[in-house]
Amino acid sequence: NANKFFSGMNIMITAGPTREAIDPVRYISNHSSGKMGYAIAYAASQLGAKVTLVSGPVNIPPPEQVEVESVVSAQEMYDAVMGDIASQDIFIACAAVADYRVDNASDQKMKKNKDQGLTLSFTQNPDILKSVAALENAPFTVGFAAETQDVVQYAKSKLERKKLNMIAANDVSKPGLGFNSDKNALIVITPNTKFDLVQASKDSLALSLLKLVEQEYKATQKS
Ligand code: C5P
Repeated sequence: NANKFFSGMNIMITAGPTREAIDPVRYISNHSSGKMGYAIAYAASQLGAKVTLVSGPVNIPPPEQVEVESVVSAQEMYDAVMGDIASQDIFIACAAVADYRVDNASDQKMKKNKDQGLTLSFTQNPDILKSVAALENAPFTVGFAAETQDVVQYAKSKLERKKLNMIAANDVSKPGLGFNSDKNALIVITPNTKFDLVQASKDSLALSLLKLVEQEYKATQKS
């Protein structure tokens, strides 16, 4: 079926934020809504793929016919991805993974210390996308880059540094786009080309992005 290019293929997508515990009642996180990743998951399943969505905590309903693996922390997301990556044809990292986790998160609720500030120290989380792209039999890997300046330049260097097949960059400093919004605009970069996907709903961008993934995926299978 020409309209279902991804039939018979496994696509894994990460989405949403991660939460890094400080203690049992507090965490550090970010503003990711999960909307872009969920839109891609839905579109990929419409195009015939068997989709695994590894999702951080979000407030949106899971798309039908998509297998959701819910995780909380970056380490959990890493473990869930790595546990199932061998069977994937395509990996799309849409999650806003926390770069750091709190050292020695407390087992008990921390108490306020009179007149004193609080210093937390952090350890870097594993880079899930980079780890997947570095695998010997890596799937076709697509990353996202949320930037506030020099969008194309940062995205290009990320594509090269993480050895990706494709990166979708968005300017999160633009009002009404990106985080939490229903709209976005993407600059899609591959090692050889660059495409502009102009402002649109995340649902329509998801389909446009997957069209480009299809095109580039075919090209990598030929070479
Ligand atoms: O380097 P930066 O965090 O900006 O890269 C963003 C891309 O890398 C996104 O695709 C994001 O999902 C992915 N990423 C990841 N694991 C991390 C950090 C980022 O998969 N620990």
